[in-house]
Amino acid sequence: MQKIRVMIVGYGNVGRGVRLSLQKNTDLELVGIVSRSPERVAREVTDVPVLPVSEPDRFLAELRPDVAILCGGSKNDLPAQGPVLAKLVNTVDSFDNHSRIPEYFKMMNEAATQSGHVSVISTGWDPGIFSLERVLANAFIPGARAYGFYGLGEKGGLSMGHSDALRTIPGVKDARQFTHAIPAAIEAVRNGENPAFEPGDMHTRECFVVLEEGADPEAVSRTIREMPGYFAPYQTTIHFVSQEELDTRYKGFPHDGLAVAAGVTGNDHTARVEYRCVWGSNPEATANVLVAHARAVARLAREGRRGAFTILDIPASYFSTLSREEMLAHWM
Ligand SMILES: NC(=O)c1ccc[n+]([C@@H]2O[C@H](COP(=O)([O-])OP(=O)(O)OC[C@H]3O[C@@H](n4cnc5c(N)ncnc54)[C@H](OP(=O)(O)O)[C@@H]3O)[C@@H](O)[C@H]2O)c1
Repeated sequence: MQKIRVMIVGYGNVGRGVRLSLQKNTDLELVGIVSRSPERVAREVTDVPVLPVSEPDRFLAELRPDVAILCGGSKNDLPAQGPVLAKLVNTVDSFDNHSRIPEYFKMMNEAATQSGHVSVISTGWDPGIFSLERVLANAFIPGARAYGFYGLGEKGGLSMGHSDALRTIPGVKDARQFTHAIPAAIEAVRNGENPAFEPGDMHTRECFVVLEEGADPEAVSRTIREMPGYFAPYQTTIHFVSQEELDTRYKGFPHDGLAVAAGVTGNDHTARVEYRCVWGSNPEATANVLVAHARAVARLAREGRRGAFTILDIPASYFSTLSREEMLAHWM
């Protein structure tokens, strides 16, 4: 069996995770990495070619990828890079700006359909696995609303976007933000109340902040609590810590979550479905989901399919290395 040739586009946390994941998925092989900063990446990666993303003729000819896994940021990188790359090669990405997914899907669908490629968008754990769970829950318990809770463990889950937001505040040298789910909100959903939550009803935010020398903690706290969207609607706790404490006690990218929906079947029998995931590393988990989707992309492409797809459109068996016989015998 020929291996599926995979190219990574963009090398940050998720890109690193994809490289590690490919070492465990032996039906796929990493053929190279393309980046806007190839010198930086080549200092870290020496076993495969690292090429500039600005030279598509060169990376297509030298790497001959079957699938490109796009690991750029959702805010600026993917909207710019995605449609360009979808014209050149089959792609998969983890675009996670939920409100812009319909617009991004349209752009990617046009690019991939016109050029005869397959592009799977917005996969990972949320959007991704949780999207599938939400749709299934609603299909199996009609009328049930599906909710996502994040940071159920004692330490909560690290939010990279909120940590980035803290680091933009003058006087903040470094920071990490942990999200905590509110247990009473989870119970209300489990009880089948289908509550209409306001922002701040489902989660609280805990910030660990290292101050610049001479910075005023009162001013920094005020700025954090008043930051619209990110912190203003939430109950927010702020701890000022040393850089050493932040680096040792709050390291890594742990995260976890729960997709949950409840309602009734028949006239009055309660029904509830839950999907729980716990990740020691959010970017590595996301990378593993991306790699399984790269396998599915190669299969869809072999069937002559074209255009954009999401996790909702792909049979589960396409993600797996298991044969149909194995699945029927042992996994049903
Ligand atoms: N769907 C989901 O469940 C899910 C979960 C987690 C994350 N995500 C998405 O994944 C995206 C990527 O996350 P990430 O943590 O990998 O972001 P990141 O580390 O900030 O990397 C994003 C891009 O920034 C560039 N970069 C990284 N480190 C750099 C450095 N030291 N200097 C200069 N450039 C650097 C890389 O592009 P170049 O190599 O081209 O420079 C990289 O592709 C997020 O934006 C998020 O939207 C989705």
